[in-house]
Amino acid sequence: MNRTILVLNGPNLNLLGEREPDIYGFESLEDIRIASERCAKTHGLGVDFRQTNDESEIVSAIQNARATANGIIINAAAYTHTSVAILDSLLACDIPIIELHLSNVHKREEFRHHSFVARAATGVICGFGAYGYELAVNAMAHLIAKADAS
Ligand code: DQA
Repeated sequence: MNRTILVLNGPNLNLLGEREPDIYGFESLEDIRIASERCAKTHGLGVDFRQTNDESEIVSAIQNARATANGIIINAAAYTHTSVAILDSLLACDIPIIELHLSNVHKREEFRHHSFVARAATGVICGFGAYGYELAVNAMAHLIAKADAS
C-alpha cells in the first residue's frame, strides 16, 4: 500500500532563503521539498509537500489528510502560536503528527514559546534549520512503520 506524508508549511515560508537567513538559513522551500522527497523515498514513502499563507487552507489540508495521508509534518509558522482552528483540525486526525520549526523557538521571543500545535503533536522538532525536515521525515517513517505493525 502507498504511504504518504503531508508536509504542510504555513505563512511566509515561501520566502525561505530570502527571509531573515540568519534565523532561517539560505535554503529555499523548493530545496527543502526536494530533500524531503528524497529522504521519504529511502523509506518507500511519498510526500505531499505544500505551502500556504492562508489559515483556512491549512485547516482544509489537514481535514483532507484524514483520508489521504498516513502522517502530517506541520510547520505552521506564526499560526503555531495563535491558531485554535489549526489545533482543532489536528485533534480530529487519527494519524501521527510532527510539529516542526526551522529555528529553536524556545530560544527566541516569549510569544514563540507557546504552541497550540504541540497539544496535538506526537513530537516536536525545532532548531535544526532545513535539516529538521529530514529529521522529521525519518521520525515519521518510524511512526508509520509502528502504526502499520500494530
Ligand atoms: C517558524 C517559527 C515561527 O515562530 C515563525 O513565526 C515562523 C517560522 C520556524 O520554522 O522556525 O514563521 O515556524
